[in-house]
Amino acid sequence: MIDESNPYLPYIARIEETWYETPGERCIKTFKVNFADESVWDTWTHLPGQCAMVGRLGVGESMFCISSSPTEKGYLRFSIMKMGRVTSALHELEAGDYITVRGPLGNWFPLDEWEGKNIVTIGGGIGQAPLRPVINYIRANKEKYGKLQVIYGARTKDDLCFQSELACFLEEEETACHLSVDVCEDKEWDHFVGFVPDLLMEVSPSPENTIAVTCGPPIMIKFVIQNLEKLGFEPGQIYTTLENRMKCGIGKCGRCNVGHLYVCKDGPVFSYETLKDIPEAFA
Ligand SMILES: Cc1cc2nc3c(=O)[nH]c(=O)nc-3n(C[C@H](O)[C@H](O)[C@H](O)COP(=O)(O)OP(=O)(O)OC[C@H]3O[C@@H](n4cnc5c(N)ncnc54)[C@H](O)[C@@H]3O)c2cc1C
Ligand code: FES
Repeated sequence: MIDESNPYLPYIARIEETWYETPGERCIKTFKVNFADESVWDTWTHLPGQCAMVGRLGVGESMFCISSSPTEKGYLRFSIMKMGRVTSALHELEAGDYITVRGPLGNWFPLDEWEGKNIVTIGGGIGQAPLRPVINYIRANKEKYGKLQVIYGARTKDDLCFQSELACFLEEEETACHLSVDVCEDKEWDHFVGFVPDLLMEVSPSPENTIAVTCGPPIMIKFVIQNLEKLGFEPGQIYTTLENRMKCGIGKCGRCNVGHLYVCKDGPVFSYETLKDIPEAFA
């Protein structure tokens, strides 16, 4: 857990395995890591939705959601899109190299409050990273939840993250999985072609006793929420994460605020009930 006497002090973690989720200039690479000092696990607890500052010594650190569920023991996963200075430096690293991990930071999805409810996740692109731990947590505790529906889309088929897991969801009955791509020239693609908010309307999940969780680009989130409301979801049934740029990650620097909220400390998980009167939240 964060060292309260010096919250800027990171843990050192060893990269056990890496792989690419997606190709291209903005490729996404997953890092499976373990703490160099394994006794950290004695005090470490995180919940789906929480994040960590991940860094490379001598370069810097950036905020990433922990893309593994706490039900996956003995390692953490981060899925990182190559964007700029820090993420490019992290992408250079391979198994056996070391990174810094400062966390867990922020709040989490209130999965205990959601027990007994149906859950629908609606993700776009790298926005599936904070949803992955929610999905895996629910799958590991399926007796506590109702129906799980996964709605996920990306620009193209190659831009879909976590493809082997998605393939499993498509083959089994317990998770209803619906995929989309914005554009498609592949004749073998037999899923939806179009934007994620349109796929949501095609699937039309019932709002009855259901929580909807959405993560993705702000423009996608905006239209997903509009469509959820059209389907009858109340603001309190809709949750999302905000990913404003951050510096300290612990409510000290004021870099990440929207309205009166510090995204790093009060979030990154918010109910739409909280965000609906803050227009800049989805700017
Ligand atoms: C709570 C939270 C969770 C996040 N989770 C993930 C995750 O799981 N995986 C992941 O790949 N990324 C995630 N991000 C985004 C990630 O923090 C940024 O991509 C990263 O900080 C970029 O650092 P950089 O030094 O490589 O880029 P920089 O050199 O700082 O910037 C390069 C480009 O990226 C843009 N950029 C930087 N930060 C952000 C941001 N937060 N949102 C939008 N554009 C940005 C800049 O405007 C610039 O165009 C998350 C951000 C937050 C706040
Ligand atoms: S990142 Fe510093 S206050 Fe949120």
